[in-house]
Amino acid sequence: MDITLRSPLDMHLHLREGDMLDLTVPMSAQHFAGAVIMPNLVVPVDSLHHLKNYRQAIESYCHQEDFRPYMTLFFKTYSRQELEECGTHILGIKLYPAGITTQSEAGVSDFSAIEETLVHLQELKIPLLVHGESDGFVLDRERQFLDVYRSLASRFPDLHIVMEHITTADAVALLDEFDNLSATVTLHHLMITLDDVMGDLLRPDLFCKPVAKTPRDRNALRQAVFSGHPKIMFGSDSAPHPRHKKECIGCAAGVFSAPVALPLLAQIFEDAGELDLLQGFVSTIACQRYGITPPDKKVRLTQAPWQVPSYYNDVSPFFAGQMIRWSVQSAP
Ligand code: DOR
Ligand code: ZN
Repeated sequence: MDITLRSPLDMHLHLREGDMLDLTVPMSAQHFAGAVIMPNLVVPVDSLHHLKNYRQAIESYCHQEDFRPYMTLFFKTYSRQELEECGTHILGIKLYPAGITTQSEAGVSDFSAIEETLVHLQELKIPLLVHGESDGFVLDRERQFLDVYRSLASRFPDLHIVMEHITTADAVALLDEFDNLSATVTLHHLMITLDDVMGDLLRPDLFCKPVAKTPRDRNALRQAVFSGHPKIMFGSDSAPHPRHKKECIGCAAGVFSAPVALPLLAQIFEDAGELDLLQGFVSTIACQRYGITPPDKKVRLTQAPWQVPSYYNDVSPFFAGQMIRWSVQSAP
């Protein structure tokens, strides 16, 4: 059996910088028509100048592929003029609470000091993408942050707020409370729970932020996604780290899922008997929520089993060494 996806999108992707782009960009560019590029580089992407250089670097690794990098700026206080200048160069602004995850030290530490920038974003119709975790107990962080989402969504009703990589039943439920909230869900959070990360031997390759939660939470995500929830889009949060940063004391957070994202999505949607809903999850819903028109690109998936390599260069991918029933084949 084959399926053809129209303009699949990855609405949350870490490509990194420098040599790493040689691995990450062609991989996503072959499988996707576009992706939302995260700005948490060593020096955060927080100016138009930096963003243009970064986009150019990404494009130089796309080769012949039709792939649109939807760029984001790292949240800081921006003047209205700075944001106006960004115009069509950005899809949105990514807000990290300070220090909450990889390279987020320059993030927001005082939420009362960001009002003016939020007013500009709302007026200029620039979406706000949020890493929604508090600094509380690790399993409660997303739940504790929901009040911040509530406050933002009610005070800025015309601001499109994207709750990135939600992992809990409570976050899914919050989507129903406010029209201006959307969410992304990753592949790995649809598949694993905390037990997979640390219930047996500790698995650095599955350690990420937010950490995978309980079976009940995973079920809530699956139920929402496998019923075509109209506000939930696919964002892989694929976040490669080299082996020496994962297999060590002080393991970095991030699951490298880009090489397996579409094939495994096909597999889990098929297993759920909902293959027809994959198109919506990987493209249509994102186009509607963001009002974007990605490059017209068809990506064909065929039922040709393959074994996921243990490493791509020195990065261990999600599902390493395991078999996947579906493969990607670019179609004309
Ligand atoms: O696990 C994660 N890794 N979560 C994030 O929010 C950031 C990402 C990264 O950049 O490595
Ligand atoms: Zn991320």
